[in-house]
Amino acid sequence: MKQLIAPSLLAADFTNLGAAVEMVNNSEADWLHIDIMDGVFVPNISYGFSVVEPVGKLSKKPLDVHLMIVNPEKYIERFRDAGAEYITVHYEACPHLHSTIQQIKSSGAKAAVAINPHTPVHLLYDVLEDLDMVLIMSVNPGFGGQKFIYRSLHKIRELKHEIINRNLATLIEVDGGIGLQNAETIIKAGADALVAGSSIFKAENPSETIHRLKSLGKDTIIV
Ligand code: DX5
Ligand code: ZN
Repeated sequence: MKQLIAPSLLAADFTNLGAAVEMVNNSEADWLHIDIMDGVFVPNISYGFSVVEPVGKLSKKPLDVHLMIVNPEKYIERFRDAGAEYITVHYEACPHLHSTIQQIKSSGAKAAVAINPHTPVHLLYDVLEDLDMVLIMSVNPGFGGQKFIYRSLHKIRELKHEIINRNLATLIEVDGGIGLQNAETIIKAGADALVAGSSIFKAENPSETIHRLKSLGKDTIIV
C-alpha cells in the first residue's frame, strides 16, 4: 500500500483557513489531520468545534482527528458528526481505553490510539485487535515544528512486527517532525500514514511537497 499523507492543519495560516483546506482538497493528500489540544493533557490550546465543524464541511478529504485532550469520551460523537473518519485518543489520557475504543467504533468512526514518545508500544497489545490504527508520536504532543525523535523508528518497527505476526490490518501513523528529509526512513520502518504540518504548510509549494511525500518509494519494509 502506498503511504497515506495527512497534512496537519495546525501549521496552516489561521487567517486563511479556507484556502488551506482548498489546497489540501486539490492535492494528493489522503486525509486532513486535525489536532485538538485542551491545555490540560498538553500545554497548548488549538481549536474546537467552531473551527472543526466548518472545516469538516469544506474538506473533501476525510478528517483524521487527533484528540490531545482529557476525557475524550465526552466529545467523540460530536467529532464524528463534524466529519471525523478516524478518531485518535491518547493512551495516556484514557483510564478505560478499551471502552473508549468501543465508543469510537459505535459512533461509526475508525478507532485509533496514540502513544507519547515515552510510552512503549507493547502497552497497546491487549487492544491491538480492536484498533484500526495506532498513532506513534515522534515528538512530544502540543506543538508543531519540533524535531523528530529517532527512537520512534524502533517503536514503528516493533509494532509492525506485531501487526504482521498477528495478521492484522491495523495501520501505523506517525506524527511530528516529519518532512522530505526523513519520510522515506519512516516509511521503510513500517509507517502507513505520515502526518506533516510545518514541512507542508511552511513549504514554498505545499501541494508539490504533498506530491513528493506521496511519491516516495516503499519497495522495502525493514522490520
Ligand atoms: C503535535 C501534533 C502534530 C503537529 C505536527 O502535537 O500532533 O500533528 O501538527 O506538526 P509538525 O509536522 O510541524 O511536527
Ligand atoms: Zn497530530
